[in-house]
Amino acid sequence: MPAVEGTTGFPHNSSPKPAPKPIPEPVRWRHETLEILDQRLLPGTVHYDVQTGVHSVATAIRELRVRGAPAIGIAAAYGVVLAAREAGGGDSLQQRLTSAAATLTSARPTAVNLAWAVKRVMARFDPTLDADTNYLRLRTEAEALHAEDRRICRAIGAAGVELIKEGSSIMTHCNAGALAVSELGTATAPMYLAHRSGIRFRVFANETRPVLQGARLTAWELDRAGIDVTLVCDNAAGHLMAGGQVDLVIVGADRVTANGDVVNKIGTATLAILCDHFDIPFYVACPSSTFDPDTPRGVDVEIEERPAEEVRSFEGLEIPGHIQIRNPGFDVTPRALVTGFVTNRGLLGPPYPDTLSVLK
Ligand code: MRU
Repeated sequence: MPAVEGTTGFPHNSSPKPAPKPIPEPVRWRHETLEILDQRLLPGTVHYDVQTGVHSVATAIRELRVRGAPAIGIAAAYGVVLAAREAGGGDSLQQRLTSAAATLTSARPTAVNLAWAVKRVMARFDPTLDADTNYLRLRTEAEALHAEDRRICRAIGAAGVELIKEGSSIMTHCNAGALAVSELGTATAPMYLAHRSGIRFRVFANETRPVLQGARLTAWELDRAGIDVTLVCDNAAGHLMAGGQVDLVIVGADRVTANGDVVNKIGTATLAILCDHFDIPFYVACPSSTFDPDTPRGVDVEIEERPAEEVRSFEGLEIPGHIQIRNPGFDVTPRALVTGFVTNRGLLGPPYPDTLSVLK
């Protein structure tokens, strides 16, 4: 491919690229079995763990084997299905399901999709029906939710593809791609569709400390798809923007509150503030299941505090144990900094929250 000049005035990567390869699905339901791709092992190893029951699913969610707001929702939805056939230990099916729902929902606090998906599948339980019929009802709902997620990603892509111009440079943060959702992802959906239609552009993937979803997952999946991706440290964003090297930022979301505030991976708010300073459009891509009309503002959302160990060691070097560590997993971007939301209900601009009402 010949080098093309972007609006940023530097050549795109023209070195020979390997042929595109499919991106593994984060969650698979096959032959009545739930398999979860262990994303902690990527990009080195593609390995699926067969889930033995609700507790293994909750652990997989907590330990980030499966991560990304929609993907943890899908995994939890199938977790409820597994609970419907676990041994009862004297409890009724209803008691088992209620306890499973609580275990799964509390595995991580911030992404609203988790509770949303569990609630949706649980709503299919009918205490007047027998266990087999209930199992089928729950499974059908979990499969429907999963299939819907694929369609929603395509709709997000269709809504956002117009944002990606020939020769442009887009920055993204964390992983809101196929590994966080299904098929096209959310923030990446416009990128995948633009790439398929022959538009040439570059993506800057922020590495996303401390567990490197950007480096290990986003850069890997975009590269695998044949998209021109450049990995940068999180703290390089301002420098690249100041040099006119970023035309657009698209990120995903773990929750959008009723007023339009965006809760997403730690570092997102910093990017939005930089975009405001440098007059760069800042877009948030998300499905309607990420919109939480019941939580008024971003400040009302519980921000997950991740284990200190994620920050304490680097390449075998340990920071002394007495040094305190804070490791918030998410932050809140005030709605005033959001240029627009790329959703399955179209591109939604201000005023927020008025335009977001279609997501309810
Ligand atoms: O902690 P993670 O990896 O589950 O966090 C996921 C994110 O924050 C992603 O950035 C994303 O935008 C939301 S998932 C589409």
